[in-house]
Amino acid sequence: MRNITTRRLIAWTAVALSLTMAVSGCARGSGKGDGGTEFTIKFSHVVTPNTPKGQAAEKFKELIEKSSDGRIKVEIYPNSELYGDKDELQALQSNSVQMLAPSTAKFTTIAPELQVLDLPFLFDTVEDIPKVVAPGTTVGKAIYNNEKLASKKTKVLGLWDNGLKQLSSNSEMRTPADLKGLSFRIQPSDVLKSQFSAWKASSTPMAFSEVYSALQQGVVDGQENPYSNIETQKMHTVQKHIAESDHGYLGYVLVINTNFFESLPKDLQKAVTEAADAASEHNRKIAADVNDKAKQAILDEGSTKIAKLSDKERQAFKDAVVPTVWRQYADVIGEDLINELLDGQS
Ligand code: LMR
Repeated sequence: MRNITTRRLIAWTAVALSLTMAVSGCARGSGKGDGGTEFTIKFSHVVTPNTPKGQAAEKFKELIEKSSDGRIKVEIYPNSELYGDKDELQALQSNSVQMLAPSTAKFTTIAPELQVLDLPFLFDTVEDIPKVVAPGTTVGKAIYNNEKLASKKTKVLGLWDNGLKQLSSNSEMRTPADLKGLSFRIQPSDVLKSQFSAWKASSTPMAFSEVYSALQQGVVDGQENPYSNIETQKMHTVQKHIAESDHGYLGYVLVINTNFFESLPKDLQKAVTEAADAASEHNRKIAADVNDKAKQAILDEGSTKIAKLSDKERQAFKDAVVPTVWRQYADVIGEDLINELLDGQS
Protein backbone atom coordinates (compact mmCIF):
# COMPACT_ATOMS: atom_id res chain seq x y z
CA MET A 1 0.00 0.00 0.00
CA ARG A 2 2.73 2.38 1.07
CA ASN A 3 4.70 1.42 -2.07
CA ILE A 4 1.76 2.15 -4.35
CA THR A 5 1.16 5.51 -2.66
CA THR A 6 4.83 6.42 -2.93
CA ARG A 7 4.94 5.34 -6.58
CA ARG A 8 1.80 7.39 -7.31
CA LEU A 9 3.28 10.34 -5.53
CA ILE A 10 6.46 10.07 -7.57
CA ALA A 11 4.48 9.67 -10.80
CA TRP A 12 2.27 12.67 -10.03
CA THR A 13 5.27 14.75 -9.05
CA ALA A 14 6.89 13.88 -12.38
CA VAL A 15 3.72 14.80 -14.29
CA ALA A 16 3.34 18.05 -12.35
CA LEU A 17 6.99 18.88 -12.94
CA SER A 18 6.81 18.24 -16.66
CA LEU A 19 3.60 20.29 -16.89
CA THR A 20 5.30 23.18 -15.09
CA MET A 21 8.22 22.92 -17.50
CA ALA A 22 5.91 22.81 -20.50
CA VAL A 23 4.01 25.88 -19.35
CA SER A 24 7.00 28.02 -18.46
CA GLY A 25 9.04 26.53 -21.29
CA CYS A 26 12.10 26.70 -19.18
CA ALA A 27 12.06 27.00 -15.40
CA ARG A 28 13.37 24.03 -13.49
CA GLY A 29 13.14 23.73 -9.70
CA SER A 30 16.46 22.70 -8.26
CA GLY A 31 15.12 22.23 -4.78
CA LYS A 32 17.09 25.23 -3.56
CA GLY A 33 14.03 27.46 -3.19
CA ASP A 34 13.22 30.45 -5.37
CA GLY A 35 16.75 31.78 -5.53
CA GLY A 36 17.94 28.38 -6.76
CA THR A 37 15.49 27.84 -9.62
CA GLU A 38 17.27 27.12 -12.86
CA PHE A 39 16.10 28.57 -16.17
CA THR A 40 16.83 27.54 -19.72
CA ILE A 41 16.87 30.03 -22.56
CA LYS A 42 16.45 28.58 -26.01
CA PHE A 43 18.10 31.03 -28.43
CA SER A 44 17.26 30.32 -32.06
CA HIS A 45 18.79 31.99 -35.11
CA VAL A 46 19.19 31.43 -38.84
CA VAL A 47 22.90 31.98 -39.51
CA THR A 48 26.01 29.90 -38.76
CA PRO A 49 27.81 30.10 -35.39
CA ASN A 50 30.84 31.89 -36.88
CA THR A 51 28.93 34.96 -38.17
CA PRO A 52 28.71 38.23 -36.17
CA LYS A 53 25.27 37.17 -34.87
CA GLY A 54 26.33 33.58 -34.16
CA GLN A 55 29.41 34.72 -32.22
CA ALA A 56 27.44 37.31 -30.23
CA ALA A 57 24.92 34.63 -29.25
CA GLU A 58 27.80 32.42 -28.03
CA LYS A 59 29.19 35.39 -26.08
CA PHE A 60 25.79 35.98 -24.45
CA LYS A 61 25.64 32.29 -23.44
CA GLU A 62 29.16 32.35 -21.98
CA LEU A 63 28.52 35.55 -20.00
CA ILE A 64 25.10 34.76 -18.58
CA GLU A 65 25.95 31.19 -17.61
CA LYS A 66 28.94 32.56 -15.70
CA SER A 67 27.30 35.61 -14.12
CA SER A 68 24.17 33.68 -13.10
CA ASP A 69 26.36 31.01 -11.56
CA GLY A 70 24.69 28.34 -13.67
CA ARG A 71 21.11 29.36 -12.77
CA ILE A 72 20.53 30.29 -16.42
CA LYS A 73 21.51 27.86 -19.16
CA VAL A 74 21.43 28.92 -22.80
CA GLU A 75 20.81 26.45 -25.64
CA ILE A 76 21.68 27.96 -29.01
CA TYR A 77 20.03 26.60 -32.16
CA PRO A 78 21.82 28.13 -35.19
CA ASN A 79 21.27 27.90 -38.95
CA SER A 80 17.41 27.63 -38.85
CA GLU A 81 17.91 24.26 -37.12
CA LEU A 82 14.97 24.73 -34.72
CA TYR A 83 12.98 27.62 -36.21
CA GLY A 84 13.49 29.58 -39.43
CA ASP A 85 12.42 32.99 -40.69
CA LYS A 86 8.83 31.90 -41.20
CA ASP A 87 8.10 30.70 -37.68
CA GLU A 88 10.69 32.07 -35.26
CA LEU A 89 8.76 35.20 -34.24
CA GLN A 90 5.67 33.11 -33.59
CA ALA A 91 7.79 30.69 -31.55
CA LEU A 92 9.05 33.60 -29.46
CA GLN A 93 5.55 34.88 -28.78
CA SER A 94 4.42 31.42 -27.65
CA ASN A 95 7.57 31.07 -25.50
CA SER A 96 8.69 27.97 -27.46
CA VAL A 97 11.98 29.86 -27.69
CA GLN A 98 12.95 32.66 -25.36
CA MET A 99 15.45 34.66 -27.42
CA LEU A 100 16.04 35.58 -31.07
CA ALA A 101 17.97 38.17 -33.04
CA PRO A 102 16.10 38.56 -36.36
CA SER A 103 17.04 41.27 -38.82
CA THR A 104 14.82 44.36 -38.83
CA ALA A 105 13.20 43.28 -42.12
CA LYS A 106 11.80 40.15 -40.45
CA PHE A 107 9.65 42.36 -38.19
CA THR A 108 7.86 43.99 -41.14
CA THR A 109 4.49 42.39 -40.43
CA ILE A 110 4.43 43.08 -36.70
CA ALA A 111 6.30 46.41 -36.55
CA PRO A 112 6.74 47.82 -40.08
CA GLU A 113 8.49 50.98 -38.83
CA LEU A 114 11.58 48.85 -38.08
CA GLN A 115 12.17 48.96 -41.82
CA VAL A 116 13.88 52.27 -41.11
CA LEU A 117 17.10 50.27 -40.91
CA ASP A 118 16.41 48.71 -44.32
CA LEU A 119 16.41 52.09 -46.08
CA PRO A 120 18.97 51.87 -48.88
CA PHE A 121 22.14 53.93 -48.36
CA LEU A 122 21.24 54.84 -44.77
CA PHE A 123 24.96 54.47 -44.05
CA ASP A 124 28.00 55.12 -46.20
CA THR A 125 30.43 53.24 -44.00
CA VAL A 126 30.19 50.92 -41.01
CA GLU A 127 31.68 53.70 -38.84
CA ASP A 128 28.45 55.70 -39.30
CA ILE A 129 26.27 52.92 -37.85
CA PRO A 130 26.66 53.43 -34.04
CA LYS A 131 25.82 57.15 -34.25
CA VAL A 132 22.44 56.39 -35.80
CA VAL A 133 21.37 53.25 -33.92
CA ALA A 134 22.38 54.07 -30.31
CA PRO A 135 19.49 53.64 -27.82
CA GLY A 136 19.17 57.41 -27.26
CA THR A 137 18.83 58.40 -30.94
CA THR A 138 15.50 58.81 -32.72
CA VAL A 139 16.11 55.56 -34.62
CA GLY A 140 17.19 53.78 -31.44
CA LYS A 141 14.09 54.96 -29.58
CA ALA A 142 11.82 53.85 -32.42
CA ILE A 143 13.15 50.33 -31.90
CA TYR A 144 13.82 50.07 -28.15
CA ASN A 145 10.50 51.71 -27.20
CA ASN A 146 8.43 50.13 -29.94
CA GLU A 147 4.90 49.61 -28.66
CA LYS A 148 3.93 47.05 -31.29
CA LEU A 149 6.79 44.80 -30.20
CA ALA A 150 5.88 45.34 -26.55
CA SER A 151 2.27 44.32 -27.26
CA LYS A 152 3.56 41.04 -28.77
CA LYS A 153 5.44 39.99 -25.62
CA THR A 154 8.66 40.97 -27.35
CA LYS A 155 11.19 42.87 -25.26
CA VAL A 156 14.15 44.51 -26.98
CA LEU A 157 17.52 43.81 -25.32
CA GLY A 158 19.85 45.26 -27.94
CA LEU A 159 20.72 45.99 -31.53
CA TRP A 160 23.30 43.82 -33.22
CA ASP A 161 25.19 44.48 -36.45
CA ASN A 162 26.16 42.38 -39.34
CA GLY A 163 27.32 45.19 -41.56
CA LEU A 164 26.69 46.48 -45.05
CA LYS A 165 25.14 44.43 -47.83
CA GLN A 166 26.66 43.62 -51.20
CA LEU A 167 24.91 42.50 -54.38
CA SER A 168 25.60 39.09 -55.88
CA SER A 169 24.49 37.53 -59.18
CA ASN A 170 25.96 35.75 -62.20
CA SER A 171 26.60 38.96 -64.16
CA GLU A 172 28.68 42.04 -63.48
CA MET A 173 26.74 44.89 -61.81
CA ARG A 174 28.43 48.27 -62.16
CA THR A 175 25.37 50.41 -62.88
CA PRO A 176 21.69 50.17 -61.94
CA ALA A 177 21.04 49.37 -65.63
CA ASP A 178 23.01 46.10 -65.18
CA LEU A 179 20.29 44.92 -62.78
CA LYS A 180 17.45 45.54 -65.22
CA GLY A 181 15.42 42.35 -65.66
CA LEU A 182 17.31 40.37 -62.99
CA SER A 183 15.44 38.76 -60.11
CA PHE A 184 16.71 39.02 -56.54
CA ARG A 185 15.86 37.20 -53.34
CA ILE A 186 14.91 39.67 -50.63
CA GLN A 187 14.01 39.53 -46.97
CA PRO A 188 10.30 40.18 -46.44
CA SER A 189 10.44 44.00 -46.49
CA ASP A 190 8.51 46.35 -48.75
CA VAL A 191 11.36 48.85 -48.57
CA LEU A 192 13.68 46.26 -50.13
CA LYS A 193 11.12 45.45 -52.82
CA SER A 194 10.94 49.16 -53.72
CA GLN A 195 14.72 49.42 -53.74
CA PHE A 196 15.02 46.69 -56.39
CA SER A 197 12.04 48.05 -58.37
CA ALA A 198 13.80 51.42 -58.54
CA TRP A 199 16.74 49.60 -60.11
CA LYS A 200 14.27 47.91 -62.53
CA ALA A 201 14.90 44.48 -61.05
CA SER A 202 12.28 42.12 -59.66
CA SER A 203 12.43 40.65 -56.19
CA THR A 204 11.02 37.69 -54.27
CA PRO A 205 10.82 37.45 -50.47
CA MET A 206 12.25 34.14 -49.33
CA ALA A 207 13.46 32.56 -46.08
CA PHE A 208 17.21 32.75 -45.51
CA SER A 209 17.55 28.96 -45.34
CA GLU A 210 16.21 28.70 -48.91
CA VAL A 211 18.53 31.23 -50.54
CA TYR A 212 21.42 28.93 -51.46
CA SER A 213 19.26 26.41 -53.31
CA ALA A 214 17.19 29.16 -54.97
CA LEU A 215 20.42 30.61 -56.38
CA GLN A 216 21.79 27.21 -57.30
CA GLN A 217 18.63 26.21 -59.14
CA GLY A 218 18.22 29.58 -60.82
CA VAL A 219 14.90 30.35 -59.10
CA VAL A 220 16.36 33.84 -58.62
CA ASP A 221 19.38 35.45 -60.26
CA GLY A 222 20.88 37.15 -57.23
CA GLN A 223 20.60 38.34 -53.66
CA GLU A 224 21.96 40.94 -51.22
CA ASN A 225 23.83 40.24 -47.98
CA PRO A 226 27.02 41.10 -46.09
CA TYR A 227 30.06 38.99 -46.96
CA SER A 228 29.77 36.89 -43.79
CA ASN A 229 26.34 35.58 -44.77
CA ILE A 230 27.36 35.03 -48.39
CA GLU A 231 30.48 33.06 -47.44
CA THR A 232 29.05 30.98 -44.59
CA GLN A 233 26.05 29.89 -46.68
CA LYS A 234 28.37 29.20 -49.66
CA MET A 235 26.23 31.48 -51.84
CA HIS A 236 29.37 32.66 -53.65
CA THR A 237 29.92 29.14 -54.99
CA VAL A 238 26.80 29.64 -57.13
CA GLN A 239 27.30 33.36 -57.91
CA LYS A 240 30.01 34.53 -60.34
CA HIS A 241 29.89 38.21 -59.41
CA ILE A 242 29.70 40.38 -56.32
CA ALA A 243 29.34 44.16 -56.57
CA GLU A 244 30.75 45.69 -53.40
CA SER A 245 28.03 48.28 -53.20
CA ASP A 246 27.65 48.74 -49.41
CA HIS A 247 24.14 49.81 -50.36
CA GLY A 248 22.18 48.73 -47.32
CA TYR A 249 22.49 47.74 -43.70
CA LEU A 250 21.82 44.39 -42.07
CA GLY A 251 21.06 44.92 -38.41
CA TYR A 252 19.42 42.67 -35.85
CA VAL A 253 17.07 43.27 -32.96
CA LEU A 254 17.98 41.12 -29.96
CA VAL A 255 14.67 40.15 -28.35
CA ILE A 256 13.44 38.09 -25.42
CA ASN A 257 9.94 36.87 -24.56
CA THR A 258 8.63 39.47 -22.09
CA ASN A 259 6.72 37.00 -19.89
CA PHE A 260 9.78 34.80 -19.59
CA PHE A 261 11.98 37.79 -18.77
CA GLU A 262 9.54 38.98 -16.12
CA SER A 263 9.32 35.50 -14.61
CA LEU A 264 13.01 35.72 -13.73
CA PRO A 265 14.00 36.88 -10.25
CA LYS A 266 15.13 40.53 -10.32
CA ASP A 267 18.83 39.70 -9.95
CA LEU A 268 18.66 37.41 -13.00
CA GLN A 269 16.78 40.05 -15.03
CA LYS A 270 19.67 42.40 -14.31
CA ALA A 271 22.20 39.71 -15.22
CA VAL A 272 20.42 39.04 -18.55
CA THR A 273 20.36 42.76 -19.40
CA GLU A 274 24.05 43.13 -18.57
CA ALA A 275 25.08 40.02 -20.52
CA ALA A 276 23.02 41.27 -23.49
CA ASP A 277 24.78 44.67 -23.33
CA ALA A 278 28.19 43.03 -23.21
CA ALA A 279 27.29 40.65 -26.05
CA SER A 280 26.11 43.64 -28.12
CA GLU A 281 29.41 45.38 -27.53
CA HIS A 282 31.28 42.22 -28.54
CA ASN A 283 29.15 41.93 -31.68
CA ARG A 284 29.97 45.50 -32.74
CA LYS A 285 33.66 44.93 -32.12
CA ILE A 286 33.90 41.83 -34.31
CA ALA A 287 31.37 42.44 -37.13
CA ALA A 288 33.63 44.36 -39.51
CA ASP A 289 36.52 41.97 -39.04
CA VAL A 290 34.34 38.87 -39.58
CA ASN A 291 33.08 40.40 -42.84
CA ASP A 292 36.61 41.30 -44.01
CA LYS A 293 37.75 37.73 -43.39
CA ALA A 294 34.72 36.33 -45.22
CA LYS A 295 35.50 38.58 -48.20
CA GLN A 296 39.08 37.32 -48.21
CA ALA A 297 37.88 33.71 -48.06
CA ILE A 298 35.68 34.32 -51.13
CA LEU A 299 38.60 35.94 -52.97
CA ASP A 300 40.89 33.03 -52.02
CA GLU A 301 38.45 30.51 -53.47
CA GLY A 302 38.84 32.39 -56.74
CA SER A 303 35.52 31.52 -58.40
CA THR A 304 33.68 34.80 -57.72
CA LYS A 305 34.74 38.17 -59.07
CA ILE A 306 34.40 41.01 -56.58
CA ALA A 307 34.10 44.51 -58.02
CA LYS A 308 34.24 47.37 -55.54
CA LEU A 309 32.04 50.16 -56.90
CA SER A 310 33.77 53.51 -57.30
CA ASP A 311 32.20 56.47 -55.50
CA LYS A 312 30.65 57.57 -58.79
CA GLU A 313 29.21 54.12 -59.54
CA ARG A 314 27.81 53.82 -56.00
CA GLN A 315 26.30 57.29 -56.28
CA ALA A 316 24.36 56.24 -59.39
CA PHE A 317 22.74 53.39 -57.42
CA LYS A 318 22.05 55.82 -54.58
CA ASP A 319 20.50 58.50 -56.77
CA ALA A 320 17.93 55.99 -58.03
CA VAL A 321 16.61 55.31 -54.51
CA VAL A 322 17.41 58.32 -52.27
CA PRO A 323 15.23 60.19 -51.50
CA THR A 324 12.45 58.55 -53.57
CA VAL A 325 12.25 55.22 -51.73
CA TRP A 326 12.77 56.92 -48.37
CA ARG A 327 9.89 59.32 -49.00
CA GLN A 328 7.70 56.47 -50.24
CA TYR A 329 7.86 54.97 -46.71
CA ALA A 330 7.42 58.19 -44.72
CA ASP A 331 3.93 57.15 -43.63
CA VAL A 332 5.19 53.75 -42.42
CA ILE A 333 8.44 54.87 -40.79
CA GLY A 334 7.36 58.35 -39.68
CA GLU A 335 7.55 61.64 -41.55
CA ASP A 336 9.69 63.33 -38.87
CA LEU A 337 12.17 60.48 -38.72
CA ILE A 338 12.56 60.38 -42.50
CA ASN A 339 13.10 64.17 -42.58
CA GLU A 340 15.66 63.92 -39.79
CA LEU A 341 17.53 61.15 -41.62
CA LEU A 342 17.40 63.05 -44.92
CA ASP A 343 18.79 66.15 -43.15
CA GLY A 344 21.65 63.99 -41.90
CA GLN A 345 22.45 63.05 -45.51
CA SER A 346 23.02 66.59 -46.66
C1 LMR B 1 18.72 37.33 -44.47
O1 LMR B 1 17.60 36.79 -44.40
O2 LMR B 1 19.31 37.54 -45.54
C2 LMR B 1 19.40 37.73 -43.18
O3 LMR B 1 18.50 38.46 -42.41
C3 LMR B 1 19.84 36.53 -42.40
C4 LMR B 1 20.45 36.95 -41.10
O4 LMR B 1 19.84 36.73 -40.06
O5 LMR B 1 21.56 37.50 -41.14
